Amino acid sequence: MKPRGVLLAGNWKMNHLQKETLTFLDALAPVLKNTPKQNSQMRIYVPALSLEVAAKKVKTDSILLQIGCQNAHYEKAGAFTGEISVPMLKEIGVDQVLVGHSERRQLFGETNETVLKRTVSALEQGMEVLVCVGETLEERNQGKMQSVLQSQLELLVQHETARKAFGEKLHIAYEPVWAIGTGVTASPAQAAEAHALIRELLQTKVSPAYANATRILYGGSVTPANFKELLACSDIDGGLVGGASLKIESWTQLWALI
Ligand code: PGA
Repeated sequence: MKPRGVLLAGNWKMNHLQKETLTFLDALAPVLKNTPKQNSQMRIYVPALSLEVAAKKVKTDSILLQIGCQNAHYEKAGAFTGEISVPMLKEIGVDQVLVGHSERRQLFGETNETVLKRTVSALEQGMEVLVCVGETLEERNQGKMQSVLQSQLELLVQHETARKAFGEKLHIAYEPVWAIGTGVTASPAQAAEAHALIRELLQTKVSPAYANATRILYGGSVTPANFKELLACSDIDGGLVGGASLKIESWTQLWALI
């Protein structure tokens, strides 16, 4: 068994209407009930407008599934058109948030600074945060994978709030940008190398104990065909899954592999 347990996290991005969400959860409930996993969790980051119905359903039907939001603003309220605040999430019973997904970084101008602000604010308000990091293909080809990961994590490992949260309320997802939604998965060796670098960085810049307690998830074209091999790597503590989380068949197959 993995020392940190395994987290299977789905990222639905901008997919599934409320009705589809409820149908999915109805199908998922018996699977989770019949195949409980010791020390492992399942979580889905659903679109913001489905958070409330999903959170309610999970609570009412006692489904062992964590529901998370795909982003949250660092201010509690104010003139930030189109954004969602942590108090709004907490009001509907959501205490999980994904921060710094590469689509947020590439398409919506998220930077290491805003990732830090969103992370710290969410942590200070009692949320659990999964921060995404990962290099582009160009950066990898230029031999910059390590320095990109270091710079994406640098502000976090320096910040007192984040430092204290690693391993408890703060975890990391390594998602190489070239593997997201492309069908090209990192090989177990490539993923293992990046995960080991991240773990090492946390060990030296935060502390060995916090580093060892931190879950580092792999994301990028995870499927039932490649998940087992990835999961066999010692520093890979689960998956952050886009495409294969959308269909109940592939999603439950992934769960069966844990
Ligand atoms: P993918 O997406 O599994 O479809 O590659 C992963 C993600 O973006 O989190």
